[in-house]
Amino acid sequence: MAARKRGGASKPPPPAAESPPPQPVATSTEPQISASKPTKILLFSLVFFIPYLYLIFYHYSIESELKRSILINASLSFAGFFVTLVMIPVASRYVLRRNLFGYDINKKGTPQGLVKVPESLGIVVGIVFLVVAILFQYFNFTSDSNWLVEYNAALASVCFMILLGFVDDVLDIPWRVKLVLPSIAALPLLMAYAGHTTIMIPKPLVEYVGTEILDLGWIYKLYMGLLAVFCTNSINIHAGINGLEVGQTVVISFAILIHNIMQIGVSSNDETKQAHAFSMYLVQPLLATSLALLSYNWYPSSVFVGDTYTYFSGMTMAVVGILGHYSETLLIFFLPQIINFLLSLPQLAGIIPCPRHRLPRFDPQTGLLTGTNDGTLVNVSLRLFGRRSEKSLCILLLILQALGCCFCFLLRWILTGWYK
Ligand code: UD1
Ligand code: MG
Repeated sequence: MAARKRGGASKPPPPAAESPPPQPVATSTEPQISASKPTKILLFSLVFFIPYLYLIFYHYSIESELKRSILINASLSFAGFFVTLVMIPVASRYVLRRNLFGYDINKKGTPQGLVKVPESLGIVVGIVFLVVAILFQYFNFTSDSNWLVEYNAALASVCFMILLGFVDDVLDIPWRVKLVLPSIAALPLLMAYAGHTTIMIPKPLVEYVGTEILDLGWIYKLYMGLLAVFCTNSINIHAGINGLEVGQTVVISFAILIHNIMQIGVSSNDETKQAHAFSMYLVQPLLATSLALLSYNWYPSSVFVGDTYTYFSGMTMAVVGILGHYSETLLIFFLPQIINFLLSLPQLAGIIPCPRHRLPRFDPQTGLLTGTNDGTLVNVSLRLFGRRSEKSLCILLLILQALGCCFCFLLRWILTGWYK
């Protein structure tokens, strides 16, 4: 949240007790919004784009019409990457002018800790994403136009989430109230959803349930709403380290796209193919715009993403998991977020006091972070793997995220044919 509304994080490091009345502006430094690393980020992305292109062009024989739609969407997303890259510094100047900034808590006690870092730059990503997703409708050549209803309901939910995320960044909504914001934002999707409400019972459980397909009715919609609440909040609370909020989204988006292509490639069912293509049409722009944001948010961050971004990315992934009918796989991609949520439960439930920020302790002398007793994966990782710098901690957490996704692919491979 931004300085205008925040407590601890909004203030630069406190002056000595006997000093005259504080002049916060005098101790703050104006930021430089130039330290973007787009080339490095794009080079790193090749690790993903090479298998992506290999699967689409060589490994699977995907129908040319479907392939054309996917590639047009990829091209629009690529354009979205550059627009986001250009727009972030522009928007940063505007948010700073409106006092929407935060101080980097993990640099407290160093000159960098005095810099006003512009907040809520997720708003740029969200707007570019929506423009790309809306324009793409013109280029999708599917004969069945029913998908447009769900597609636009999905976009309405994502748009509503961006609005509520930005409201949260500006107004500093109390923690327990903001937990329910995603259930409000999910309403357009829940009300417009006319797809099936059935689930396939895992083969080993069929004899106990007595049927292979179970119609959940309204419970299915409740599950959709709960998934939206979980995905958004779990991204938002696995945060506070430069690059982590965007980094985890990038890793999960990579995994989702690979999963989608594999399902399109192996499936003979047209409905399944369309569901996974639908997911790709929203995840490609999410990934491209997030990569642009990552080039500013990577250590040392020159912008913060805000709850606008964490809610937006969580809602987009929830929506594609629901409409692509692979929410179980999505939940396994969210394994680190599930662990972080379980670790957080005692503090979220109020059993143990929950401070405004549950971040590690920073030592300005060594530049290293030490894990505190707050229940987060960030702190537990520091306690397990030892003290380390903020950048190396972020890399470690992203590697854990990628390993979780690899585990999911392995699990799917092992269980294929036996589970469903
Ligand atoms: C959630 C977490 C909180 C964590 C915060 C960090 C829970 C219940 N809440 O709160 O513990 O501290 O996210 O985002 O788990 N910041 C940094 N470095 C970063 C990113 C953010 O110092 O790399 C600080 C900045 O002061 C920034 C602020 O965190 O202004 C943003 O916090 P906000 O997103 O508003 O916190 P919450 O989502 O409410
Ligand atoms: Mg947040």
